[in-house]
Amino acid sequence: MNYPRIAIVGATGVVGQMFLTVLEERKIPFSSLVLFASKNSAGQTIQYQGKTYTILELNETNVTAHPVDFALFSAGGDVSKIYAPLFVKIGAKVIDNSSYFRMHPDYPLVVPEVNPEDLQGHLSIIANPNCSTVQAVVALKPLHERYTLKRIVISTYQAVSGAGSLGIHDLETRADQDHLKKFPYPIHQNLIPLIDVFLDNGYTKEEMKMVHEMRKILHLPNLAITATAVRVPVLNAHSESINVTFEQPFLLEDVRHILATSPGVTLYDDPSSFMYPMPSLVSGQDQVYVGRLRVDESLPNTLNMFVVGDNIRKGSATNAVQILERLLTKLS
Ligand SMILES: NC(=O)c1ccc[n+]([C@@H]2O[C@H](COP(=O)([O-])OP(=O)(O)OC[C@H]3O[C@@H](n4cnc5c(N)ncnc54)[C@H](OP(=O)(O)O)[C@@H]3O)[C@@H](O)[C@H]2O)c1
Repeated sequence: MNYPRIAIVGATGVVGQMFLTVLEERKIPFSSLVLFASKNSAGQTIQYQGKTYTILELNETNVTAHPVDFALFSAGGDVSKIYAPLFVKIGAKVIDNSSYFRMHPDYPLVVPEVNPEDLQGHLSIIANPNCSTVQAVVALKPLHERYTLKRIVISTYQAVSGAGSLGIHDLETRADQDHLKKFPYPIHQNLIPLIDVFLDNGYTKEEMKMVHEMRKILHLPNLAITATAVRVPVLNAHSESINVTFEQPFLLEDVRHILATSPGVTLYDDPSSFMYPMPSLVSGQDQVYVGRLRVDESLPNTLNMFVVGDNIRKGSATNAVQILERLLTKLS
């Protein structure tokens, strides 16, 4: 195959910019690169790998005039709904960061370390999971293979970068109630136990996304999962407290060995030397860090762990580019 033609949709956003960084870091070859954003950014230029690229407005005329082989989307569900099928129509494969296609039975939802087998067959749109889902399943899948998951209780501490450039604005400017661009309340000196919107069952959409997406990726449609998602005043990298019950008993030393040798995971766990994962440590890295491993003494076969991942990298851009790498290998 010749070098692919690649498009980024949402190229001016937090995730879109990280796509550019990760494509360069991982030396993904391309014969052309087309950058799309909204009409507000059209005409802006970006310097990248020694060349100047002009941002194009995302519209049917521009998409049709610039055919590509792969399109990396990160411009929200409404944009994906309309434009992903258009890219497919002109012959591209779409890797989509929005939630729009994630639970659609026709489209795979993939974390390459966890369910690469779902990239088999005819692929048009591949969904990239929610950032909180990605880091959880990277840590849980290798333990599931050995001990079989029974129940997961997950509580998140999610960085403002997960809410895009407007979320970063609200923290960095310490916006008060009158100057907020993203959150319903100031995030500085605060926590907000609402991510996305409330649903009829009292959970938030973010919490239910985690439940449904983890079940789909792990191929465990009936797995018991309950989630609480909280926005915290941290710039980047999501943290998760995960309480997990297995069908089989485990030894903590075996759990450590499994995690230390699993792809995508860095075991970072030594209380005697104050080694535990934190956003400040993990931000900027592609590995998912796991620490604070403890036996839950209140329930049989139950483990506590603390999992931290860079939501813009492994939670979004890196995972999408890893999917692209797999597709390129398949096609070569
Ligand atoms: N941040 C995360 O941790 C994360 C993780 C997983 C998934 N995601 C998903 O990735 C997507 C983008 O997130 P983000 O954090 O990068 O947000 P962001 O910083 O707000 O960027 C949004 C991007 O979408 C573009 N856009 C908005 N409306 C558009 C339209 N009508 N046509 C074309 N482009 C349009 C924006 O272009 P302009 O600059 O021209 O407005 C910008 O490039 C969302 O679907 C989000 O759910 C984000």
